[in-house]
Amino acid sequence: MEGKVTQSGVAAMAACYERFDPAAYLQYNYTPPRADFQRKDSIVPWKLACLHRAFREDDVKGDLLVDIGSGPTLYQVLSGCEVFNKVILTDFLEVNRQELNLWLQEDGGCNLDWTPYLKHVCKLEGRRPSEWTEKAARLRQVVTDVLPVDVHRPQPLALHALPPAGADCLVSAFCLESVSPDLDAFNRALGHIGGLLRPGGHLLLIGALEESYYFGGPGVKIPVVPLNEAQVCEGLKENGFTLIRLEVYTLPQDMRVGVDDVTGVFFAKARRN
Ligand SMILES: C[S@@+](CC[C@H](N)C(=O)[O-])C[C@H]1O[C@@H](n2cnc3c(N)ncnc32)[C@H](O)[C@@H]1O
Repeated sequence: MEGKVTQSGVAAMAACYERFDPAAYLQYNYTPPRADFQRKDSIVPWKLACLHRAFREDDVKGDLLVDIGSGPTLYQVLSGCEVFNKVILTDFLEVNRQELNLWLQEDGGCNLDWTPYLKHVCKLEGRRPSEWTEKAARLRQVVTDVLPVDVHRPQPLALHALPPAGADCLVSAFCLESVSPDLDAFNRALGHIGGLLRPGGHLLLIGALEESYYFGGPGVKIPVVPLNEAQVCEGLKENGFTLIRLEVYTLPQDMRVGVDDVTGVFFAKARRN
C-alpha cells in the first residue's frame, strides 16, 4: 500500500514538471536580486563561493564530475570544471537538456547570459574577469554529455552511462527536495544518487530549507519537501555519507521575491563511506 502511495506521489511530481518553463525559471532565480554580483548577501554569489571553496580543497579530486538535476543552469559546475577533466550534466526534462546544449554548442538563443557568472567565478579563482572566455571554452571542452536522469529510479542514469567504479564527485542543487513527494522519497533518492559515486568520492549537495513550493513558470506551482538542517544531516548519514561541512544561508527579506517560499539554503559537503 505504502509503495503504491509513493508511486502515485512520484507520478504526480512528474506531472507537475510537464509545464516547467526554463526561461521563466532562469528569470526568477538567476537574475537580480538573487544573482546580484555587487552584493555579498545575494543568494547566487553565496552559492558560487561555497562551490569555489569546496572544489579548491585537495580532497575533492578525480576524473569525473556528475551534476544531478542540472535544470537549465550551469553555475554549479563553473568551479568544478577546472578540477575535473570530464563533466556530465543531467536532467529529467528534455527542455532543460536542450537549454544546456544551446549554450554548449554556441548555437545562440540561450535564455540566460552566463557571462557575469563566468566573470565572477574567474575573480574567485584570482583570475582577471576578462579570462571568462577561457573558462567558457574549458567548460565546453570538459562537458562530454547531457543525459536524462530520474532520481526516483534505483539506477538514475542509463546503464553504462558512467564507468563501473562510478563518479569521483557529484554535485546536485535544488533537485532532490523539489522532485520528491515526501521525506521518505527524498531519502530514497539520496540513496539512489549515492550509488553513482565511488566510495570515498564527494557529494556537494545544495538545497532549499523549509520550502513548500516554487514556481517553475507562470502558474506552474511545484510542491517541495520542506527540509530542516537536521533532516539533511540525518539523510546523508542514513545513506552512507560522512558529513564534512554544512553551511547555511538565510534569505534576506528582499530576496523573497514571490517565486517560492524558501527561507534558507544549505550547502553540504559529504564523503561516501
Ligand atoms: C528546482 S530545479 C533545479 C535546477 C538547477 N539544479 C538549479 O540549481 O537551479 C529541479 C530540477 O529537477 C529536475 N527533475 C524533475 N524531476 C526529476 C527527477 N525525477 N529526477 C531528476 N531530476 C528531476 C527538473 O527538471 C529541474 O530541472
